[in-house]
Amino acid sequence: MVSTIRPSSILHRTPWVPPVAVAAEGSYIELESGQKLLDAVGGAAVACVGSAHPAVNKALKDQIDRVSYVYNMQLSNQPAEELATLLTEGSNGAFELCGFASGGSEAMEGVIKLARQYFHETGQPQRTNFIARELSFHGNTVATLSLAYHPTRRAPYAAILDDQHFHHVSPAYAKRFQRPEESEADYVERLRAELEAKFLALGPDTVIGFVAETVVGATTGVVPAPKGYFKAMKSVCDKYGALFILDEVMSGMGRMGTLHAWESFGDGVAPDLQAVAKGLGGGYASIGAVLMSKRIATGLRGASGIWKHGHTYQGNPLSCAAALAVQKVVASENLLENCRTQGAYLEKLLKARLQGPNVPSAPFTFDIRGGGGFWGIEFDFDCPEGATLDFRGQQFAMLLQAHALESGIVIMGMTGGANLEGTKGDVILLAPAYNIAAQEVEKIVEMFGASVDAVLEAHRV
Ligand SMILES: Cc1ncc(COP(=O)(O)O)c(C=O)c1O
Repeated sequence: MVSTIRPSSILHRTPWVPPVAVAAEGSYIELESGQKLLDAVGGAAVACVGSAHPAVNKALKDQIDRVSYVYNMQLSNQPAEELATLLTEGSNGAFELCGFASGGSEAMEGVIKLARQYFHETGQPQRTNFIARELSFHGNTVATLSLAYHPTRRAPYAAILDDQHFHHVSPAYAKRFQRPEESEADYVERLRAELEAKFLALGPDTVIGFVAETVVGATTGVVPAPKGYFKAMKSVCDKYGALFILDEVMSGMGRMGTLHAWESFGDGVAPDLQAVAKGLGGGYASIGAVLMSKRIATGLRGASGIWKHGHTYQGNPLSCAAALAVQKVVASENLLENCRTQGAYLEKLLKARLQGPNVPSAPFTFDIRGGGGFWGIEFDFDCPEGATLDFRGQQFAMLLQAHALESGIVIMGMTGGANLEGTKGDVILLAPAYNIAAQEVEKIVEMFGASVDAVLEAHRV
């Protein structure tokens, strides 16, 4: 049993007290109890080069010995400067400037404020509205919860969220919302027309920008948009002079098998502004970044020339040294290629294990989707075979996550992403490290498949 009852002075995010990790190496984590866990989801799609990578550990230790902290309003530092240069000069012209944050929510707050600052300083102060999407997640601060629409995470705070400046259109989630009579192109056109109608209803010259996760993560569980969607949405932004903004906090920095998710899953359309975080520091330090296109950089350089926003730990030398080392490891060990190769292998094995002939889970495995190192498995019990199961008021995805942890594998269960009300849906998210080996992929599928079977079996009526 890993979820032992233990005292804790932490107000945890879970109804149970999570077990305590005491060591980690590669894709394995060791608990206080001595049990070893295989991390199949990189924590929360974070640990992209695994734990205790020697090059990253060394970079962190070296940086502690040099400069551990300086304040960004007084001094800059070497790893911050080098990381910013790497992120901009390595973007093939997509990005020209970079600003740092301490994580994904902070990066998205930074994006919201920077987008507003841009129009405030470039002669369009009447632009005050953002349009984002239902069933999206952009962070857990008040502004990012307002921007996004994660039904359960925003519910307790709905009364204090801002619905004056943050507006929503439909998600791009074909498997659930594309109509049977629609082609993919028809569906994209319906979503494009809806966005344009929203611009017109708000007043097109009041819109700051359209914001989307390139691949939706924490709400619906690895949902790429239909082909042509981002091109269509950007065309609306361009038509009315608004910004096209991508949140790649979860799906970016290599997670989809390309450095930026839009390169493979976003029609190759570069955004005006982009947030990245998780895979940037790979879990070695708290860091996020805001990447700014030439349009934004030129506008700001011609105005105040500064980012009117900041936090105490922005550009922290240790965080930047860790992120720099992680990015160098990803490049020097050719990990994006490994991520694509092992991702394709994971997909093949998952499909055979969960959807193959005479497999107990096959009737309930609604969808297996993703790319690179980011995979979602959606279960649905709205089928005749569903009558043979009774989860006694509990959610399958959470039962499965708990069972998997008990049996030694870390996965992420998510619920409520299959309808707009947030009451339906069971998804498991897998996001192994980019340097995962084929044998570990096999182990993930074997352990995960065994947990699926066991939870189904335990709830047969
Ligand atoms: C797309 C997206 N944006 C923002 C965030 C918030 O990031 P953080 O938890 O680092 O604040 C998340 C976290 O899962 C995310 O998936």
